[in-house]
Amino acid sequence: MKFVAKTLYGLEKVLSEELIGLGAGNVQTANRAILFEGEKSLLYKVNYSVRTALSVLMPLADFKIRSKEDLYKGGSKIEWDRFMDTDDTFSIVPVINSPHFGHTGYAGLIIKDAIADYFRNKTGRRPSVDTTNPRVLINLHISNDNVTISLDSSVVPLYKRGYRQEQTVAPLNEVLAAGILLLSGWNVSSTLTDPMCGSGTIPIEAGLIASKIPPGKFRQFFGFQKWKDFDEDLFEKIKLECNSQIGLSPVKIFGSDVSEETLKFAKANVARAGLSDVITLEKSDFKDLKSIDEHGYVFLNPPYGQRIQPEEIDLLYGMIGTTLKHNFPGTTAWLITSNKESLKHIGLKPKEKHTLFNGALECVLLKYEMYTGTKKLWKA
Ligand SMILES: C[S@@+](CC[C@H](N)C(=O)[O-])C[C@H]1O[C@@H](n2cnc3c(N)ncnc32)[C@H](O)[C@@H]1O
Repeated sequence: MKFVAKTLYGLEKVLSEELIGLGAGNVQTANRAILFEGEKSLLYKVNYSVRTALSVLMPLADFKIRSKEDLYKGGSKIEWDRFMDTDDTFSIVPVINSPHFGHTGYAGLIIKDAIADYFRNKTGRRPSVDTTNPRVLINLHISNDNVTISLDSSVVPLYKRGYRQEQTVAPLNEVLAAGILLLSGWNVSSTLTDPMCGSGTIPIEAGLIASKIPPGKFRQFFGFQKWKDFDEDLFEKIKLECNSQIGLSPVKIFGSDVSEETLKFAKANVARAGLSDVITLEKSDFKDLKSIDEHGYVFLNPPYGQRIQPEEIDLLYGMIGTTLKHNFPGTTAWLITSNKESLKHIGLKPKEKHTLFNGALECVLLKYEMYTGTKKLWKA
């Protein structure tokens, strides 16, 4: 079976490594997506335990069109009764960039008609459309002449882990937080600190990685559970297998924030993720913090500055640079922000730079190596 795992821009490499680790075959990289092959059990396992995918699609048909009629013909060739019955409901999500369709909704209507006619011709009845709570979610992707019709096996995006019920104004997407951690080379044996932790997304994703807790453990639902061929025993077996890996985190994780209110959210989220023993949270201004591990990792997601005066935000970024330099010698620091202007005030030279997206917001992820003593000595 062929599958497509969708991800955020810049996380393709970490996702492909994750998928290979989970047993995926013929792994190929595309734009914001990884193509892979495997059995039904792999589809369940990936949905339950992958950290850096947004959703997993199962392509049903791939074809070229020269007209709107070709879309109907291609849609009619799919054996829809393998996946749903007449008393099921479905919905279509069209993603269209094609000269054949000026109106996105129209392409969706054509596929809806193809499905309705397919069932009506076979049984005299047809499944109905339900856009709010469909049993089967169909993804229709048209790029110029190329059409791919897929089933969405996740439905609720995989970044919605289920542990984060309370959040600050600018929380990181959970998939992005996990992606940053996997990309950073954090080896799960070095102390990890997030001194601007907000609702706790980075410490929680780090805690899940360190304790080998599958991110799907807190979710109530995956799209494939409503498919006609859903194998409940197989899914239970996969969950048991994945959960048997869970162990004690070998490392301590710290989160702090200047806002008392925000820390309350973080505490509730950490407790919901079952990580209260792994993650220590405290109220602190970053400028007052000192590193407790010379070989530790620091992850920073400072405010982007939308709600703060420009001079204030520049001062904040300046303080981050000074604090890292004086209070966190020896550590490896990673910082993600969308505010490229204020970054200039950090006054540190990054070792690495990556472009990533937090939702629609373009961000830059930077790595700083904080040397101890003089740079010359440290290099030696
Ligand atoms: C962009 S938010 C972090 C969001 C977080 N990554 C999440 O997923 O929820 C930035 C956080 O930095 C905190 N902050 C701002 N100035 C700070 C300071 N001087 N020291 C510590 N935290 C600070 C804010 O209270 C806010 O929670």
